[in-house]
Order: sequence, then structure tokens, then C-alpha cells
Amino acid sequence: MQALNFLPSRHRVFTTACALTIAMAGLTGSVQAATPTELSTAYATQAGAAAQAERGRQFFTTTHGKEWSCASCHTALATQVGKHASTGKPIAAMAPAVNAERLTDPAKVEKWFRRNCNDVVGRECSALEKADVMSWLITLKP
Ligand code: HEC
Repeated sequence: MQALNFLPSRHRVFTTACALTIAMAGLTGSVQAATPTELSTAYATQAGAAAQAERGRQFFTTTHGKEWSCASCHTALATQVGKHASTGKPIAAMAPAVNAERLTDPAKVEKWFRRNCNDVVGRECSALEKADVMSWLITLKP
């Protein structure tokens, strides 16, 4: 990637997306830092479609046939500290603008999408659903 550093970062993000997709597909808990935008773009590339922030907001704030929505634990604003719907434990804010650690560790992101989507939707989220949610979270301002 070094040779591409003269490109605007937007272009580099797209260039790294393919590599990230491959890395994420084979993830086995290794910690590999990335930016939220790189991860969101990698999911969109995997889905073969563009992410839509508004669709992500709707997905996050509504229920999908089960008791909880994502917002039940993370709040509908996602810039605020959440509260676990069953244990009551606080959950740090989800928006990267408020919490710089969010959406930077592919293994953590994958792990929690898998667990939480199963709780909320009764299945794993699709790559496009993940890209949508992440692209919405990235737009949020403190
Ligand atoms: C029952 C409570 C609960 C629900 C419902 C829930 N989550 Fe979470 N989520 C958690 C907890 C607990 C963590 C891990 C603790 C932490 O990271 O602060 C977490 C972490 C995450 C992470 C990791 C983010 C990072 O990079 O640190 C993502 C992504 C995520 N949740 C997305 C979702 C989405 C999308 C939904 C809806 C489909 C959802 N969550 C619903 C409790 C919940």
C-alpha cells in the first residue's frame, strides 16, 4: 500500500477494501487495526452493493421479529452510553466519533455482529446490513 500513499485517502480505502475482505473472511481472532470506514467499505465490497446510512439507522432502531432491537442496548442515538437490556450493565457509546475504539478491530466487530444479530434478528446479519449499520454509525456526530 505504501506506493499508493499519494492517492487521496478515499481511493486508498477502496484499494484496501479487497484485502480487508479477504482478511475478515479468514479472521480467527487476530487483532488487526483498521478504520471504521475501511471496515464498512470491506463489508459493502463483500455485499457487492453500496452502504446506505439511513437504511442502517432504520435497521438499528427497529425490531426484527424478536423482543430487542439494536437500540435496546445501544440506544437509538448510539452516541450515548447504552445499557444492556437484560443485565443492565453500561455499554460504551457505539459511534466512533464518541468512542475512538469502535469499529476498528475486525475480529471484535465480527464477533459482536454475529452475537447481537442472532439475538435481534435470529440469524447473522448480511454483509450489506453490517455495512449499512456501520456507515450510519460513522455519520454520527457527538
Ligand atoms: C442485549 C444487548 C445488545 C443488543 C440487543 C445489541 N448489542 Fe451490540 N453489543 C452489546 C455488547 C454487550 C457489546 C460488547 C461490549 C462493548 O463493546 O461495549 C456489543 C458490541 C457491539 C459491536 C462491537 C463494536 C466495536 O467495534 O466495539 C457491534 C458492531 C454491535 N454491538 C452491533 C450491534 C448491532 C448491529 C445490533 C443489532 C442487530 C446490536 N449490537 C444489538 C450488546 C448488545
